[in-house]
Amino acid sequence: MNKSSKKDYEIRIDELIYKMTLAEKIGQVVQLSPSLFGAFGLTPDELIEKLVIGEISPEEFEKIDRNYHEDEIRQGLIGAMGGVIGAEKSNELQKIAVEESRLGIPILFGLDVIHGFRTVFPIPLAEACSWEPELMRETARIAAKEASAAGIHWTFAPMLDVSRDARWGRVAEGAGEDTFLASIIAASRVKGFQGEDLSSDESILACAKHYVAYGAPVGGRDYNTVDMSLQALHDIYLPPFEAAVQAGVATVMSAFNDINGVPCTTNKYLLTDVLRGMYGFDGFVVSDANSVAECAIHGYAEARKEASKKAIEAGLDMDMSKGTFAEDLPSQLEDGTISEEVLNEAVRRILRVKFKMGLFDNPYRTDKDKEEKVILCNEHLKVARDMARRSIVLLKNENEMLPLKKNLKKIAVVGPLADNGTDMLGTWAIVGRSEDVVTILSGIKEAVDSDTEVVYSKGCEIEGDKEEIKKTIEDASDSDVIIAVVGESSEMSGEAASRIDINLPGKQLELLKELHKTGKPLVVVLVNGRPLSIPWISENATAIVESWQLGVQSGNAIADVLFGDYNPSGKLVSTFPYSVGQVPIYYNHPMTGRPAGKIKFTSKYIDGPAEPLYPFGFGLSYTNFEYSNMSLSANKVTKDSKLKVSVDVKNTGKVQGEEIVQLYVYDVVASRVRPVKELKGFKKIMLKPGQLETVSIELDINTLGFHDENMNYVVEEGLFKIYVGPNSREGLEEEFYVI
Ligand code: NOJ
Repeated sequence: MNKSSKKDYEIRIDELIYKMTLAEKIGQVVQLSPSLFGAFGLTPDELIEKLVIGEISPEEFEKIDRNYHEDEIRQGLIGAMGGVIGAEKSNELQKIAVEESRLGIPILFGLDVIHGFRTVFPIPLAEACSWEPELMRETARIAAKEASAAGIHWTFAPMLDVSRDARWGRVAEGAGEDTFLASIIAASRVKGFQGEDLSSDESILACAKHYVAYGAPVGGRDYNTVDMSLQALHDIYLPPFEAAVQAGVATVMSAFNDINGVPCTTNKYLLTDVLRGMYGFDGFVVSDANSVAECAIHGYAEARKEASKKAIEAGLDMDMSKGTFAEDLPSQLEDGTISEEVLNEAVRRILRVKFKMGLFDNPYRTDKDKEEKVILCNEHLKVARDMARRSIVLLKNENEMLPLKKNLKKIAVVGPLADNGTDMLGTWAIVGRSEDVVTILSGIKEAVDSDTEVVYSKGCEIEGDKEEIKKTIEDASDSDVIIAVVGESSEMSGEAASRIDINLPGKQLELLKELHKTGKPLVVVLVNGRPLSIPWISENATAIVESWQLGVQSGNAIADVLFGDYNPSGKLVSTFPYSVGQVPIYYNHPMTGRPAGKIKFTSKYIDGPAEPLYPFGFGLSYTNFEYSNMSLSANKVTKDSKLKVSVDVKNTGKVQGEEIVQLYVYDVVASRVRPVKELKGFKKIMLKPGQLETVSIELDINTLGFHDENMNYVVEEGLFKIYVGPNSREGLEEEFYVI
């Protein structure tokens, strides 16, 4: 089939817009979900919530009778739909749109495919801990292959919100606290979803969300207001979106929040001046769910109608909800309150994306056979296992307790997350199924010798007071080692899941304390969607394995690490605080006039440390690495040049291992106060025991700038310090001048 060429589709778009009625145009700027007819006595919203938290299985959900709006599709009134899953259903609806509607415009089917489709990968925060953008590109690619096989054209991912607040539940969905790393990962994920060719049957549209600064709500409370300087917005929160645009992202989702008093949904500066003007974005912008209507609740518009006008005039092209644009635009277009050219432009942007995707030429990109073949295939599971073990961060390993021998006599596996499939999937695993998950208990059983006894006891629930700690201690007290799997459930992170307290919930800490009293080595495996505050565990456990929520291959990946089939290499992308009272806490904070020191009147707390428990970039290995001989290719560099930074890294341990060599910079004197350290480069290397490698990282001097008060990006001359090391706290130091 001939793919539409660019020139060709621009003409066809003009022709279509000329022919379209107002109602057909409005149909293109609305994204509708199939409405559910009441089931289990619940409203559609309640049903979806139950599906997301796993109380209703996808199979049950599929059986619920729903309205797919076939008549409206036939009338050409629906341009995009969310939540239609499956090759057969999507093809059936597409057929109505393409063959039975007047203009035959194909529907765009969207879904939240956040970290895998049926092959659920680690949550994005975990994947980021691998510091392996290429692998993250591959997992996004696989997600695209599976989702497209199930009729999906468009994912609402990647989430690019930099966040420094562990209370915010959606840290699970992002790449952590650092802008530089998040920007690299943003580009990889976009390229993975969209592939080399957007019109390939295996590519889906990416959606850079939530534009912007949604990850910085006051108090860490989801949907809350965001108040920050424009400089911080441009230096910290916008760059991952710019990187996504440069990587060719086709769509962007506006955030729920306001920034400095203006909701993102109606923010002309952000949607038009910055996104399209400065960055050159040429796709379309969709609102977050119902966020146009919510501008009236914000009090930024007198009523929903005014919100619709403000949003579309600000540059928001598609409304993710049924009622708002659909009900509020027609009269305002008819009486001239909104110019039809504004609507035409939004329609044009949406149609352009449909053409670029090849949907007009190839509206049916899949069928039932393909769907069955692709989904959860062995090749995908292999990548899932590798990604999962590379996402794990070893936080403590006293007396080289790990890796464990496979021929121990007795292993006690305890904790509410040890034999648990659902909570390994993490947030937003809409299509994921707990029966696809290798639990940690089964991964361990599979890994050990056949005569090793593995006993399991739950100990307590994740939340609440129910416990059987006494019995668990009895079972565990004659074992060689206790592996305690504790943490959070899937629903404790993600959207609308902010926490006041980031300790282990329920009786889990009590369980660990009792287990510790047995005197047996205590290996704690953490399963969680955010950094937790774990000072007691850090002090008392023998080893700590931060495993996050690793998806369908959780148990195998964790067993690979516990028994040494994989030497852990992940490093934290979010700071671990001692206490929630330190939050927000992040390594790249601006220098203060009174940095924390011994004397009282410095920036610290009187009842706890100012330093974090585990810093950004931290993670151990089963071997050790020694850094020496740091050198720079020059001590004076010009703004447009590159500096070569070299360092010798040696594996001084007994096993081969990977190290993430990190490069940080500090601009010592500047016209604006600068962060004490900023990541500007990294390299992941593999070294055999005794092997030494001279690692070179090229530092682009152009990346050392910041935004001045007029939002100009400037790189200033003067002294810079530069650090190369294993994390943001340790490292060798040199200096250079930008001239
Ligand atoms: C609301 C969430 O904020 C957004 O991330 C998601 O893509 C939409 N709902 C659609 O489910």
